[in-house]
Amino acid sequence: MRRMLVIGIGAGDPEHITVQAVKALNQVDVFFVVDKSPARSDTDELVRLRREICERYIDESNYRIVEIADPPRDRATPAYRSAVEDWRSRRAELWERAIAAELGEEACGAFLVWGDPSLYDSTLAVLDQILERGNVAFAHEVIPGISSVQALTARHRTPLNRVGRAVQITTGRLLADGFPKGVDEVVVMLDADCAFQRLNDEGLEIHWGAYIGMEDEILVSGPVAEVGEQIVRLRREARERKGWVMDAYLLRRGVGP
Ligand SMILES: C[S@@+](CC[C@H](N)C(=O)[O-])C[C@H]1O[C@@H](n2cnc3c(N)ncnc32)[C@H](O)[C@@H]1O
Repeated sequence: MRRMLVIGIGAGDPEHITVQAVKALNQVDVFFVVDKSPARSDTDELVRLRREICERYIDESNYRIVEIADPPRDRATPAYRSAVEDWRSRRAELWERAIAAELGEEACGAFLVWGDPSLYDSTLAVLDQILERGNVAFAHEVIPGISSVQALTARHRTPLNRVGRAVQITTGRLLADGFPKGVDEVVVMLDADCAFQRLNDEGLEIHWGAYIGMEDEILVSGPVAEVGEQIVRLRREARERKGWVMDAYLLRRGVGP
């Protein structure tokens, strides 16, 4: 039976790769790469990192790389959920066709997933959809990766939670509605607008990072009231310089004695 490995490759530092991921990489006959170009300016750098990982950790270069075009996604529509579902279905059709055409019945394929495959990534959902459709069969396995959440807390040398307290991982879009109830720690990802600026809470502390683990890494931490504007400026400047920015942050409230 075909095998498909979903391998977490860490959040940008090639040394995030685990021993388990190295072993998995060395079993792969075909790497499926989703080609997002030319729409995204970050593509070149992210593709380069994946290539570097393959060259550095795979002993024999007898694997193939198969590119799958990414269908366009309507990011402007207010019907966010149905737009994502529609996009995933179109992805499933394209991936299904590529797997059937390019992966032999006994071969091993892989998708390399940024960070960890469980976190804000659609690879597993798309593979589930392909299996549900029933046109191609494969056994699949997930190799966990260092997520940007772990990379962020490690670089700031801070724990994620306080003793016995809950943590929430959320998006900039959701944070814009207010600090979530029932938690004191929030990790925010996918935030293009620095949503922390609009929170009305004087006691908030932030640990922010952009390009964590990469050459251009920027880290800032402190009370939002003191460092918030600096983060907004650094983020804007980085984005102008590189053409793209990838950042995440931990917000902590009620800090103090
Ligand atoms: C589509 S999600 C993918 C998350 C990924 N699966 C993970 O485990 O980190 C992309 C978001 O992750 C965060 N992110 C990923 N890598 C990052 C990095 N090296 N530095 C800062 N943020 C990062 C950013 O918030 C970005 O918008």
